[in-house]
Amino acid sequence: MTILGIESSCDETSAAIVEEGVVLSNVVQGQVEVHAEYGGVVPELASRAHIHNIYPVVSEALQRAGRQAAQLTAIAVTAGPGLIGGLLVGLSVAKGLALALQKPLLGIHHMEGHLMSPFLRRVGEAESGCTFPFVALLVSGGHSLLLHAEAFGVYTLLGQTRDDAAGEAFDKGARLLGLSYPGGPAIAALAEGGDRQAIRFPRAWLDRQRFDFSFSGLKTALRTHLLSHPPGDDRQAARDIAASYQEALVEVLVEKSLAACRAVGCRRLLVAGGVGANQRLRQLLQERASPRIAVFAPPLSFCTDNGAMIALAAAERLQRGARHDAALTVRPRWPLSELPPVPVGQQKVTLVR
Ligand code: KG4
Ligand code: ZN
Repeated sequence: MTILGIESSCDETSAAIVEEGVVLSNVVQGQVEVHAEYGGVVPELASRAHIHNIYPVVSEALQRAGRQAAQLTAIAVTAGPGLIGGLLVGLSVAKGLALALQKPLLGIHHMEGHLMSPFLRRVGEAESGCTFPFVALLVSGGHSLLLHAEAFGVYTLLGQTRDDAAGEAFDKGARLLGLSYPGGPAIAALAEGGDRQAIRFPRAWLDRQRFDFSFSGLKTALRTHLLSHPPGDDRQAARDIAASYQEALVEVLVEKSLAACRAVGCRRLLVAGGVGANQRLRQLLQERASPRIAVFAPPLSFCTDNGAMIALAAAERLQRGARHDAALTVRPRWPLSELPPVPVGQQKVTLVR
């Protein structure tokens, strides 16, 4: 099976060729420079950039993989959730290709794509060792979720953010600190050499028995702190604030994820999404999970939005008989509970709340 996976739900235009779980190519064209001056993704600008980038990205994916379009088994595309304009660009291209090549079309849920990231491997690479069931912490600029993935297609939502996504909390915090967009890497860089304990920013544990997140209070605490203690030209003070802010954010993500693992009796934890790139998050997860829980953190190119994860999810669904036709539409809001059940087991997603 040789699958082309297209992803354009947010601000990355990506296309990948995945063959029997092996990523032959994974081309990602980001748009940071388009959105930087606005401090966040501007949907209309994102759509235009996707239109501009998608054909070169798809052809480069085929070229790098050394495959012809005619050799593809199927065309997969993120059908939601995400920004409607970007999704439409990806879907239109995928439909056109599927029609022209007379190949099956598959519309994939973006989060199911992320859940497949620990199973992706590059040519010559060994498997990560991750297997179902596992708990997944999916944290990016657009989403913050804790899921229990019992098997392919059988997912339970354990928790999600009640306000900002974790990446948004990084981005907004960075803006308050006068740092550039995207804020996550900027805060992480400034935090190096900072004292993580310098300021005791609040941790929103909410209900200890639940696994929801809330980051708006932390952001307000940062704003209040900056008003009373502006760092000015004091670089060390700025580093301490960044390190303390990052620590508060990361500690909640780590503790909630581990508590979720314990609650469902699961000993594998996946972390993915742009915030999953955060080194302090990865370090603290490893420290606190070990030795009871194994942490799987895919390489950065599979952690952030990419076409390869969409192709792999499509391969799994295709094997189970799924396929779509030209009537497929995008779903900007698409609760996981409305994911089509996979034929094996026929178990539907249930929401724990
Ligand atoms: O998955 P992603 O590339 O795109 C989506 O939002 O879907 O995630 C981008 C988010 C941004 O909010 C960015 O600030 C954050 O991930 N991010 C990080 C790091 N790298 C990216 N957050 C914390 N630490 C990082 N090293
Ligand atoms: Zn994502």
